[in-house]
Amino acid sequence: GSTRFYDFKVHTMTVKKLCNSKEIVAVNNKYPGPVVYAQQGDRIIVKVTNESPHNVTIHWHGVRQILSCWFDGPSYITQCPIQPGQSFTYEFTLVRQKGTFFWHAHVSWLRGTVYGAIVVYPKAGVPYPFKHPYEEHIVILGEYWLQDVVQLEQQVLASGAPSPPSNAYTINGHPGPNYNCSANDVYRLNVVPGKTYLLRLINAGVNMENFFAIANHKLTIVEADAEYTKPFTTDRVMLGPGQTMMVLVTADQPIGKYSMAVGPYMSAHGVSFQNNSAIAYFQYAGVVPNSISLPAKLPNFNDNLAVKTVMDGLRSLNASNVPKEIDANLFVTIGINVNKCRSKTPKQSCHGLNNGTMAASMNNISFIMPTVSILEAYYKGIEGFFTDDFPGAPLRFYDFVNGAPNNAPNDTNSVNGTRTKVLEYGSRVQIIMQDTGTVTTENHPIHLHGYSFYVVGYGTGNYDPKTAKLNLVDPPYMNTIGVPVGGWAAIRFVADNPGVWFMHCHFDVHQSWGLATVLIVKNGKGHLQTLPHPPADLPRC
Ligand code: C2O
Repeated sequence: GSTRFYDFKVHTMTVKKLCNSKEIVAVNNKYPGPVVYAQQGDRIIVKVTNESPHNVTIHWHGVRQILSCWFDGPSYITQCPIQPGQSFTYEFTLVRQKGTFFWHAHVSWLRGTVYGAIVVYPKAGVPYPFKHPYEEHIVILGEYWLQDVVQLEQQVLASGAPSPPSNAYTINGHPGPNYNCSANDVYRLNVVPGKTYLLRLINAGVNMENFFAIANHKLTIVEADAEYTKPFTTDRVMLGPGQTMMVLVTADQPIGKYSMAVGPYMSAHGVSFQNNSAIAYFQYAGVVPNSISLPAKLPNFNDNLAVKTVMDGLRSLNASNVPKEIDANLFVTIGINVNKCRSKTPKQSCHGLNNGTMAASMNNISFIMPTVSILEAYYKGIEGFFTDDFPGAPLRFYDFVNGAPNNAPNDTNSVNGTRTKVLEYGSRVQIIMQDTGTVTTENHPIHLHGYSFYVVGYGTGNYDPKTAKLNLVDPPYMNTIGVPVGGWAAIRFVADNPGVWFMHCHFDVHQSWGLATVLIVKNGKGHLQTLPHPPADLPRC
């Protein structure tokens, strides 16, 4: 492969949206940010210079970072943030990977405005496993806040209460006509009648999962999380934050202007959210530009069945090496609770909801960000910043999957900590994730860094090994799995990429509340199994 250089300047810029002007943090004066284009096997070098007033890191979401954990990007996990005025150069190779990825800030809630697409083409001469599209387009779903997103996180934590909803959903940064002052702030995809288009869908949203549909048009899913799937045709798809998908759509309808819509999927109870939709236009050549658009039909915000239907349709095109045997079997509950008190940095209230604070946990451990990067502490053997005792099963199992009580009792069993789980190199790992919660149950988009994993099973209710059906034949190979509300999902992967890997809910608010843990994969025997030394310009805390 060749080497591709990019220069990312992170700075503030003024945008006008929803009748308001505001300063946002962005990259190279673009919102959404610049697209990184590459080919499978290429080396990517991105120099990130922080000219903004905030700490910044960039994560290359979905890129497995084989033996390049230092460049993964999550703040305080693999690196200290790039401080204002500093720079850091990310360098990694797209080993065996192609498809649709994205990059985003991985510190505070800066991802709200700092994100962009990564498009990796197959090697020269290697065709797609589907009919070559007439054109390809990037369609990024996002959320827009009128408030500064860094302040918003601080405010949410200081309140101890849930996060307010965003002010708009966006498509490629545009809210579209359902929002004030946005009739012309709309993305248009101009299409030629009869042609087939490949849409690279990315959900870069902060705290919401989203349905996506185009009026009167079918979508054929051909890739999920940058891995090919068997073609599956559907009226709509659902993407949680952190998920990407490629769909084919043919302009096979009468010449017209059709809405592309993004609306909420909200499976939790009692949460205030924005029940509106971002609109873009799928506009045929020859249509009168100002004509009325045909509305897209989105499912209801709580349509769990619509989500299951999409999930059932995701099957790997080629699922080689699904682990049939297991060396390490973890059972991980994920839940939203109210704790007595959580974290002092960032400062979190102890007098919020129910005279406690909103908290989230995996196996009753509410993750506290350390003040140095775990990777650096691990690599250099510096003690005192994390422990290696993340439990392989919950401290206490809350059997609330069939409808959580809404009286939000304090979760007296959860503890705060920076606990990691250490895995042997090459071990075959299974993780059963179980949604629980004393406040509410909810579909959580759980993301693992450094790996893709086979989603070998999922279902509603409590996981039961006697009745759970596993698919070891053609499970999808993903990096973010929406664990069904009040249900479970089982993932499998081989731990063959040494490093320190974050696993967390891709809702930023849940991550801030501690819905995270860290997997440490030890080195193997040979030099091709050993994490290299840290780069010289690695930021310091
Ligand atoms: Cu896209 Cu840890 O995140």
